[in-house]
Amino acid sequence: MCGIIGCVSKRNVSEIIINGLKRLEYRGYDSAGLAVIPDSGHKKSFHFKKTAGKISALETLINHADFTGTIGIGHTRWATHGIPAEKNAHPHFSCDKEVVVVHNGIIENYEELKEGLLKRGHKFSSDTDTEVVAHLLEEYIRKYSPLGSLQRVTRILTGSFALGVIFLKEPQTLYGARCNSPLIIGAGDGENFIASDVPAVLPYTRKIIYIDEGQVVRLTADKINIFGFDGHPHRALPTEIKWDIKDAEKGGYPHFMLKEIFEQPSAVESSISYYINSKGCGEFKSLANLKERIKKINRIVITACGTAWHAGLVGKYALEELCRVPVEVSIASEFRYGNPVLDNHTLFVAISQSGETADTLAALREAKCAKALTIALCNVVGSSITREADSTVYTYAGPEISVASTKAYTCQISVLLLFAVYLARLLGNLSSKKEKQLLKEIKTIPGKLKTVLKSSDEIRSFAHKYKNAPNFMYIARRYNFPNAYEGALKLKEISYTHAEGYGAGEMKHGPLALVDNTFPTVTIAVKSLVYEKMLSNIQEIKARRGIIIAVATEGDEYIKHMADDIIYVPETQEMFSPLLTVLPLQLLAYHTAVAKGRNVDQPRNLAKSVTVE
Ligand code: M6R
Repeated sequence: MCGIIGCVSKRNVSEIIINGLKRLEYRGYDSAGLAVIPDSGHKKSFHFKKTAGKISALETLINHADFTGTIGIGHTRWATHGIPAEKNAHPHFSCDKEVVVVHNGIIENYEELKEGLLKRGHKFSSDTDTEVVAHLLEEYIRKYSPLGSLQRVTRILTGSFALGVIFLKEPQTLYGARCNSPLIIGAGDGENFIASDVPAVLPYTRKIIYIDEGQVVRLTADKINIFGFDGHPHRALPTEIKWDIKDAEKGGYPHFMLKEIFEQPSAVESSISYYINSKGCGEFKSLANLKERIKKINRIVITACGTAWHAGLVGKYALEELCRVPVEVSIASEFRYGNPVLDNHTLFVAISQSGETADTLAALREAKCAKALTIALCNVVGSSITREADSTVYTYAGPEISVASTKAYTCQISVLLLFAVYLARLLGNLSSKKEKQLLKEIKTIPGKLKTVLKSSDEIRSFAHKYKNAPNFMYIARRYNFPNAYEGALKLKEISYTHAEGYGAGEMKHGPLALVDNTFPTVTIAVKSLVYEKMLSNIQEIKARRGIIIAVATEGDEYIKHMADDIIYVPETQEMFSPLLTVLPLQLLAYHTAVAKGRNVDQPRNLAKSVTVE
């Protein structure tokens, strides 16, 4: 939710900031702005532009040749306080225009702070919570240094914030601060950066410092200093980022989403191979020190949001089947308001692609307070959730840019299935022979994913056929049941078509009333323990003249008698089948959204990383 970037350099930074904002646009895209201190001019003042709309709108306002400066900050917004409009776009200034601020997060006590500031004569130009920060700094700077002022202001703010700040008084120094919102430092050669996420600075440096909670940073072109909010100096070493810049670009695909769908064979392969050792056994090195504690667990609680929650639901089936340990899968936004039962025999797993989702992070903190053993299942190295959990199990999906999560989902499921196998062995519930058989099967999945992707053109034709249907139903059972939710979520999210996911057996308890000859139901009916049951559920829909789009196992001729359209996937064990059956659902959503002319990678009202509650 909102992306910020700042750069202090020896060259012009306006282009660097715009490029960085484009790479952060997945975080929010309803308005944008930037400010630099121009090199020339008798008296220094900020040069800035802001606008409602996307970064492209901001870019048209800027002529880089005229808009030069060696220090600047930029922002792309996902509105929380104040409608998307030029006046609410960041950066925000103090009354005297001596301080400029960009912010990601929510200042929860802003109303109270604003009231005081108004009484003391400050004039506000926006409806945002952020603007109080600029005005507060204006007051403190009268008495303290820029660093001292920022440290003091961070101590009176509550809520979440990643801040980028420049003071005219110190025109070659860029400041940042972090509390419950992500912020990294990019350590460059003769230039330094702050940003909400790594891709923003990747064209310029691979050396990243993950700023900790409660830290203020002071950067010049050649120097990086880190402090606590209390003023104490801190030390941190840069991490070298391994991924290629191309991973964060479209690479010839029309959309990030399509690229990421097609990356699934290699993303899943990377995620699987990391956890299978040379002897063909499951190995989770990051959990090695926790083995004795893990053996004592009597319950698993998984929490996550959105697509990651659906991955958790698949994980539950495998964990309960293989480990015989009760598993609860909780929506993170509900978790901590539900008075959850947790203790030191609970294994708590927080699943998150970004590692920054506010509700998942809050749930993790709750679990830690209750002394549960906490594990993060995460895609982003160094993200907040990974730093707070007792240990992290990574997915190796590479950067996921599209708001609609695809490759992160299949990687999360892959790693959860491997974890279920590993845990079952650790708890003594699975023979070595069975382990090897399961791991052998999962290794075939990347190849099978490639086969499913060959159906993309055929799925495009189905998307065109059904694109005007106002409502869709998705049904499935057991391991594939979470994919019914996931397929419906994908379609809603990017095509704005209403869709619902249901357990197929539930249709006759209400939703069947919706069915008529205009109503499409996507059914996942692959060969499995519940195949026959799925066929019965499909028959019940057909008997009401409903339209059936079936995802079925290659070679299933019988289903042709019932389905209007069929997408085949290769055969695999039921446990691994959700990895295959979700691809047609992702592609159906994608092609429907394209057919309807939607903005696939940046659907309205959403942002990739939900860092506010
Ligand atoms: O980064 P996270 O995995 O924690 O994100 C969780 C959800 O916000 C995310 O999966 C969301 O539902 C996606 N946009 C769905 O495609």
